[in-house]
This record gives sequence, C-alpha cells and structure tokens, in this order.
Amino acid sequence: VLRIERANGTDVTGVESLLAAAGLPLDGAAEALALGIVARDGDALVGAAAVERYAAAGLLRSVVVRKDMRGAGVGRAVVEAAEDLARREGVQDLYLLTETAVDWFQRFGYSVVDRAVAALAVGRSVEFATVCGERGVAMRKGLWIHG
Ligand SMILES: CC(C)(COP(=O)(O)OP(=O)(O)OC[C@H]1O[C@@H](n2cnc3c(N)ncnc32)[C@H](O)[C@@H]1OP(=O)(O)O)[C@@H](O)C(=O)NCCC(=O)NCCS
Repeated sequence: VLRIERANGTDVTGVESLLAAAGLPLDGAAEALALGIVARDGDALVGAAAVERYAAAGLLRSVVVRKDMRGAGVGRAVVEAAEDLARREGVQDLYLLTETAVDWFQRFGYSVVDRAVAALAVGRSVEFATVCGERGVAMRKGLWIHG
C-alpha cells in the first residue's frame, strides 16, 4: 500500500539516492525537504517532491519516482500533495525548472515562462546555479487560494 505523506528528517538520505539515480541536483535538496512530500511503499521510499519557499512564490523541485514505480500515478500524487502543502503555506505561484519533463508538467497546468521571470521570483534558489538551472526550462502555475 502506497502512502503519500510529509517528509521527515530521516528521509534525507533516501530522497538523495532517488535524486542521484535520476540525475537530479542534490544541492539544497535536504533543506527543501522541510516542505517535502514522500511516497512510501512499506519502509521503502519510492517518490518525492519538495517546495522551496520564496515569499509569495515557491520552487517545486526534487520531483522524482523510483524507476520501477513509474507510470502508476506516483508522480502525479506527490506533485499534487506538494501543491496542497505549498497552498496551505500561502504560496501563490509555484515555479519549477526541468530539463526533461515539460510535457508532463503541462498536464498539471504548468506553463513555460521566461527564465528571467522565474529568476525574479525564485532566483535565489541554488537550483538556478546548477546544471538543471542553466539548461532547464522554467515553468509556472498559479495556485488557487481557497477561502
Ligand atoms: C517525471 C516523473 C517524476 C514522473 O513520475 P511517474 O510516477 O511516472 O508519473 P505518473 O505516473 O503520475 O505519470 C505517468 C504519465 O506521464 C508520462 N510521462 C512520464 N514522464 C514524462 C516526461 N518526462 N515527459 C512527458 N511525459 C512523461 C508517462 O508516459 C505517463 O503517461 P500516461 O499516463 O499517458 O501513461 C518520473 O518519470 C521521474 O522520476 N523522472 C526522472 C526525474 C525527473 O525528470 N523529474 C522531473 C524534472 S525536475
């Protein structure tokens, strides 16, 4: 049975191995797990997503699913849980950088934006200084804040 829940301090190593296996940046990943979501299959970590907070904006990062678990909706589940978490924290616009998953994130309502626009909102993130940041496509989604 798959559980989608808030990440805790003991998840850092497991999430870092998932990121490393997927070639995603580790810089700042541990810190970002403060607003992190994980997917667990028993004791095993099979997916993650995290939000870095920058005033009214957030950076969605570290979205990853273990290879043998892909294509079953785990990615969607962790992204939606991370969005809910960001919304509850008062994040109004969620940005992300991706090299490989533009089409995938478009399914969830993210649109490509100019990197300069994203840089104004979340440019302090170390992800902007990494390979992913330099080559990555910037995307944004407005989070509807429910009363
Ligand atoms: C991207 C990723 C998180 C998706 O996780 P997932 O659990 O497989 O996602 P879901 O099961 O919710 O969605 C699967 C669907 O998305 C499609 N899809 C998966 N990755 C995709 C991509 N990179 N681009 C376009 N479509 C993609 C699948 O073909 C599948 O389509 P279907 O529903 O029509 O069959 C996972 O493939 C992954 O960890 N990739 C490596 C890391 C990465 O690229 N992270 C995001 C960028 S920072």
